[in-house]
Parts: sequence; C-alpha cells; structure tokens
Amino acid sequence: MSMGPAVTGVRCVELDVRDLPRALEFYTQVWKLTDVGDNGLRGSGPAAHLLKLRHAQDRACVRRVTFDARDREQVERLHRNVAPVAVRCGAPAMLGEGAGYGFDFTDSENRRMRVVCDVRDHASRLDDADAPQKIAHVNFNTADIDATLAIFCKGLGLSVIDESGPLVFLHGDNTDHNCVVIAKNGKTTLNHIAFEMRNIDAVMRGAGRMKEAGYPVEWGPGRHGPGANVFCYFAGWEEAPLEYTCDIEQVDAAYVPHGPDYWKFPPGRADRWGFTDPHSPRWKRIQDLYTFASDAG
Ligand SMILES: [Fe+2]
Repeated sequence: MSMGPAVTGVRCVELDVRDLPRALEFYTQVWKLTDVGDNGLRGSGPAAHLLKLRHAQDRACVRRVTFDARDREQVERLHRNVAPVAVRCGAPAMLGEGAGYGFDFTDSENRRMRVVCDVRDHASRLDDADAPQKIAHVNFNTADIDATLAIFCKGLGLSVIDESGPLVFLHGDNTDHNCVVIAKNGKTTLNHIAFEMRNIDAVMRGAGRMKEAGYPVEWGPGRHGPGANVFCYFAGWEEAPLEYTCDIEQVDAAYVPHGPDYWKFPPGRADRWGFTDPHSPRWKRIQDLYTFASDAG
C-alpha cells in the first residue's frame, strides 16, 4: 500500500522503571515474556527482545521505540526520508554486538526512535501458548498531528489506513492493518503498548492471569472497529499502559480506508461485540502517564 520505503512494524520498546527487579518479575511471571539477560525480555517470536528495561533515574518512562526495516538498503532509504523531518537524526551505522544496522532519531515531541535491520534474533520460536508473540502496535498521543504524521508517514513510510474519533491508524510494510496508532488528544505521552497473543484463548488466559495477580482489566474484552483486533487493557507494573491483543485484520492493496463517520459505534457501545463497559477512569489516567525520556543515554 505504501509507495516508498516503509518500516515493517514495531520491533521493541525500551522502558525505564523505578523497581527493576520487580518489573522483571512482573513481565516474566505475569505478562509471560522470557528474560534473555541484560534486562531484555523476548516473546515467543524470533525477535531478540520485545521489551528492554533499565532503572529509571526519576520516574517510569519510555526510552525508545525501535522499528524494523527489511534490509540495509531500506534503512538507508528510510534515513534519507527521516533526517529532514526529525529534530535530531544519527547516521546509519552498526549498532553494536548483535544489535544490527540502523539509526536513531528524535522527533519534535521528544520521542526517541530507532530504525534497524539485521538484528541477531533467536533461531527458533518458543512453543508457549501464553507468551506474547510480538509487539502489535504502539499508540502515541500527540499535541501536533502534522509534525507527528510528517515523522511517521513522510519519514517512516507508514500510511493512514483508517481514522476513528481522535485515532489515526497507520499501516506499515506488511499485512497487519496497523502497527502504529496516533491519538490526537493534545498530549505528548505514550498511550499504550499492545502485545500480540496467539488467539482469543491466550488473551483471555492472560486476562485471568493478570486479574489473579492484582491487575484487573481496565477496558475489555472487546473487538475494535478499525483493525478488528480483540483487546484487553491493563495497568501493568508501575501502571504501564498495556494491551493484550489478537486477530488483527490482515489487509492488502484492495483494503478501503474509512474515516471517523464510518467508524462510529451505536450509542452505548464501545466495541463490535457490544460486550465491554467503557474504559475505567484509571485507564483514562494512565494512557497519559508515561512520558518520553528526556535525559541523555
Ligand atoms: Fe491498542
């Protein structure tokens, strides 16, 4: 669907957390990622890690979001498109042992991002029906939709596939309906991180596991309009805004995008099933809780 070079999706998110040992315990025991050392946490897919944690100087925040590119040529083409719209942008380079080839940049809302290829991933998938498989999408709040779309569309090559209320859904160089969502809500924070589960059973077993561990569902279970994915939202460790999702719609060039008028639910509904209650006040609060790291490093 995209004409130029485009990233294929979100590879991983780096988070600063106040209590590193307990965060690792939560993400392994409850969220069901696997500790691969150096505070990296993998899912059941091949990606080296989906989350990387480090000790926060001050408060929990997002340090960096990393996107995948297909190969070095794509990294270099993407760099040529990102550099003019970024506030700071490094040159493509080898990023260290096993970390691949890519470049880092920062945008006008202080989001640090990376585009990378050739990362040394795991040789095999984990046969674990409860583990998240990959990062399905990251939802970013924005106070400046024009600058944000310049970064994600002109820079990273994503295309607008649907719009619903304040949400803009962005499609990358693969068949998933979206890999990035932008929330036009006057904020410059993280809205949430969504982890793809194998199927609805895995989402619901995850919801049960979270509830049992003291992390009740803040919104869901339900099935979204755009993307048609199943969702369950939680306040995770240090109130990280997290989602278990599955069943994202697979699209091709024949997909017809729609706008906010089309994606309206009937009164009283917040999803396709008509099952879920509206999100909790806590979810409303935590989808504006995590800022992007402002210190160097
Ligand atoms: Fe989501």
